Amino acid sequence: MPTYHIWTLGCQMNVADSLKLASGLDRIGWSESPDEGSADLFVINTCSVRQHAEDRAYGRLHQLRQQRQRGEQFQIAVMGCMVGPKTDDLQRRFPWVDVWARPQEYDPILTAAGVARDASEGEFWTETYGRPSGPTAYVPVVHGCDKFCTYCIVPLRRGRERSRPAAEVLDEVRYLAAHGVREVTLLGQTVEAYGHDLDEGADLATLFEGIEAIDGIVRTRFLTSYPKDMTDRIIDAVADLPKVCEHFNIPVQSGDDAMLERMRRGYTVAEYEERVEYIRKRMPHASLATDIIVGCPSETDEEFANTVALLERIQFDVIHVAAYSPRPGTFAYRKQVDDVPREVKRERLHVIEELHARSSSAINRQALGRQVEVLVEREQDGRSTGRTRGGQLVHFAGTGLVGQLVDVAVDEVTAWSLHGRLAGDLTLAVV
Ligand code: SAH
Ligand code: SF4
Ligand code: F3S
Repeated sequence: MPTYHIWTLGCQMNVADSLKLASGLDRIGWSESPDEGSADLFVINTCSVRQHAEDRAYGRLHQLRQQRQRGEQFQIAVMGCMVGPKTDDLQRRFPWVDVWARPQEYDPILTAAGVARDASEGEFWTETYGRPSGPTAYVPVVHGCDKFCTYCIVPLRRGRERSRPAAEVLDEVRYLAAHGVREVTLLGQTVEAYGHDLDEGADLATLFEGIEAIDGIVRTRFLTSYPKDMTDRIIDAVADLPKVCEHFNIPVQSGDDAMLERMRRGYTVAEYEERVEYIRKRMPHASLATDIIVGCPSETDEEFANTVALLERIQFDVIHVAAYSPRPGTFAYRKQVDDVPREVKRERLHVIEELHARSSSAINRQALGRQVEVLVEREQDGRSTGRTRGGQLVHFAGTGLVGQLVDVAVDEVTAWSLHGRLAGDLTLAVV
């Protein structure tokens, strides 16, 4: 039986795409190689969001070439966001790659795997759902992005917004539930844009409602949120529906209106804060995560200070921060100058990382001595790991609980995770 190995870089969307490709390859009789060195087909699912992500793929491609030069025989496929509509440049730089495939364009890889034609009249991929890899799963619901923020390459690589029909999404969730999945995360670059391009009138809340009725699923998550698309109806659905976790990932990117304008984010700081206020009004304990880019073209000290001030005001549970990386083809790359010195970017990055460590430690400390509900995702060496509804990582002693909801009493915290014991074990600890 021929074997494959898929190496995945980038975001949750890529993780979902890789599992779908794996399912498709399984369907045509291939199997996943137990060790990556011996696979007949090596697939890299790439990310282009920053130069660093591309560099990792380049490094791996050079290693694979050396393996080929040593006489090892296998095929190399590159898929994902590094692959644009034209591949001439890539082909010139990496002539040893056998197949190039754009994000979610799986057919060229099937062809490389020896399936000459999709004989299923186009149904092969729509009916191939991502292979579950544990009790949690990602479900892409809207592909692409229509926002065109000036710094961002994603719309150029993933194309315009396309929502999947609600019936298809719910079918996939039912399939996942039947295969042991307990928690689904609905994915979109701006996930609340789900349904805008459909005639059926469905929105993200419609999907939430549909999943409430699916046995086996105990938690629904969703990302990534975009303030302008977050309607009251969607926020109310998160508050009202028991399975939907009160956990929002809402990238703000900057806390300064002029900078937001140059990024073409399409909202002001006040509009962003109004959404956060509404969320907190409906769900005082909602957990909030955000993304920040520091050092975008012409970002001044004052603009950066406004970002810091916003972060101090909101007190996010999690802050993902990155330094601006110019992406070829984007508006910022063509029309703005990458003029913030590298050291300044590094300093600003550091300031936000410090702030994040402080705020998340303080938030995690609030869990000390309390019980939290954890969906157990995996176990290793006698210890289990899972997450709270708010997305906090929890470690505790115990095994045999993967896929179950358990109560954990927290007795130790760090900035990044909670540690505790199964609530039932508490009496033992006291004795
Ligand atoms: N759709 C989401 C995020 C998509 S990309 C949103 O609207 O925010 C994921 C994250 O990568 C972004 O939130 C941003 O913080 C970061 N990012 C995107 N382009 C970048 C660039 N050119 N340089 C540095 N970080 C970038
Ligand atoms: Fe990129 Fe902006 Fe779309 Fe997010 S909303 S994927 S940052 S263009
Ligand atoms: Fe994701 Fe990277 Fe593409 S963040 S959408 S894999 S550019």
